[in-house]
Formats: sequence, structure tokens, C-alpha cells
Amino acid sequence: MTQQLDHATDLHDATVARAADSGANATAQFQAKQKAAVAVSKERVSEVATAALTALHEVIRDKQVTYEEYDALKAWMIAVGQDGEWPLFLDVWVEHVVEEVANADREGSKGSIEGPYYVPDAPALPARATLPQRDDEAGTPLRFQGQVRAVDGTPLGGALVELWHADDAGFYSQFAPGIPEWNLRGSITADDEGRFWIDTVQPAPYQIPTDGSCGRLIDAAGWSAWRPAHLHLKVSAPGHRLITTQLYFEGGEYVANDIASAVKPELVLAPTPRADGQGDKVTYDFVLDPA
Ligand code: DHB
Ligand code: FE
Repeated sequence: MTQQLDHATDLHDATVARAADSGANATAQFQAKQKAAVAVSKERVSEVATAALTALHEVIRDKQVTYEEYDALKAWMIAVGQDGEWPLFLDVWVEHVVEEVANADREGSKGSIEGPYYVPDAPALPARATLPQRDDEAGTPLRFQGQVRAVDGTPLGGALVELWHADDAGFYSQFAPGIPEWNLRGSITADDEGRFWIDTVQPAPYQIPTDGSCGRLIDAAGWSAWRPAHLHLKVSAPGHRLITTQLYFEGGEYVANDIASAVKPELVLAPTPRADGQGDKVTYDFVLDPA
């Protein structure tokens, strides 16, 4: 891991204004997705906004927050916007509770946060596929295979498995410079039995950009800036509820100390070496709730 860390740091140093890059891209990506205004009643806005502000007022009283600290907060919030880091801030520190509420009633697979780096319409791939990758893509090869089923066990033929993840240095295509557009991103259609076999490489842990406002908060608070290595997935089938989730790797660094609080025990994979010596393999089945 020390080697991986050094590698990530080297790349980081060689990358100009990385927080601004990934932040601006994450902002643009979110705005493209969020074209229409969401219809929310005045009553609901007032209810939630009043509760949020009241919670903040309570913190100020409880912690006896000073004018100096209030001004530091104001300056920091202005800078988060200037750095384009609101998507990162919200997805790291807030989204996991929204996910918990949204998916509390599911019987099937556990969900996890989407994060800021999903891009729709990744290249379509068949059930047996290799994710788009560079000729010299670094990292341990990983065969990720499984089946998509309904809660009653019925295989969901033709289910869609969208998979995206960071590379062996912890960087995402389209959010860090110099990586081919669709690298390590694909939309896989499962076979008639809902099965899929996807060849990719093991991702590295991901470090929250350290040169922006989120990094300054992490540094000022003495927190860790890391997320454990993870695969991102969206799995869907007609008549069923799409699940957005992430999968982690047993024994991996930061699995027990994720800055985004998005690890669940059911989402930790334990890959084993492949018989042909070509890296690792792991099986994970998805269960989709009815729509
Ligand atoms: C962030 C990055 C991720 O890869 C992720 O899964 C969640 C959050 C972030 O930088 O905010
Ligand atoms: Fe991620």
C-alpha cells in the first residue's frame, strides 16, 4: 500500500489544480442530470429547512461557537463554492444518510452512495465483457461475476449492470486529466439468466482531493482523507427498483475508516486467486426489489 500511496501522491503532484478539475466536472455532471426543478411544496421546504436551521442553532449554543469561528465557517463555505466542491462535500458527508432513508424498506441487495463520479450511458457491453481499459492498465486483474435475481429468486434475464470505478492509482476517468473518456466504465447487459462475467482491474483506495476546501477541512480536523477501494454499481431490470451500490474488498485499507461512511458488512467482497493465475475472481449476486 505504501507503494500505492506514493504512486497516487506522484500523480497528484503532477496534476495541476486537481480539486478544481474534479470539482468542476462533478458540478457540471450533476447539473446535466438535474435539468428540471424538483417540485417540493412550501410546507415541506419550511418543515425541512426549519429543522436543519434549528439543528445548526443548537450546535452553536451547545459548542458556544464564537464570531471568529462563524467567520471561518463563512469563508470556508464561500471557498467550497469557488472550488466547485459542493458535490464532493455533500456526497462524502451527507449522502450516506439520504441513502439509508431511501433504501430502508428494501428486502433485496443493500445500497450505498452514488458519489460524484457516475456518468450515464457508458459503453454497452455483453454479459461476458472486459471493461474499457488502457493497453497497459495497471492493477491486479479482477473477474467480477454474478447473477441478478428478484426477491423470490427468479433470474432477471437482460438486467443492466452499470459498473464504474477508479484505476490502480485511485483516479476516475472524466474527473482526472489524461485518462481515456470511458476508462473502467461500462453498461453490461446480463444474459437470459441474469448472469454476467466482467473482467476489470482491482481499483485502489480513493483520496478526497487534498488541495481544495474539503481537503482543508479534513486537514484542520485531523481526519483521514481516504475511502477504501471500491466498485460502483447501478443494477436495474424492468419492473424492479434500481439499486445504486458499492462493493469493497475484505482486509483492504480504510474499509473500517471510510471518510464517506458508506461501507456496510454485506458489501465487502473476498476475491480469491483464479485457477489460471490471471489475477483474482469474485462472485456477487444482486437481488432487486419489485418496483
Ligand atoms: C467521493 C468520491 C467517491 O469516489 C465516492 O465514491 C464518494 C464520494 C467524493 O470525492 O466526494
Ligand atoms: Fe467512488
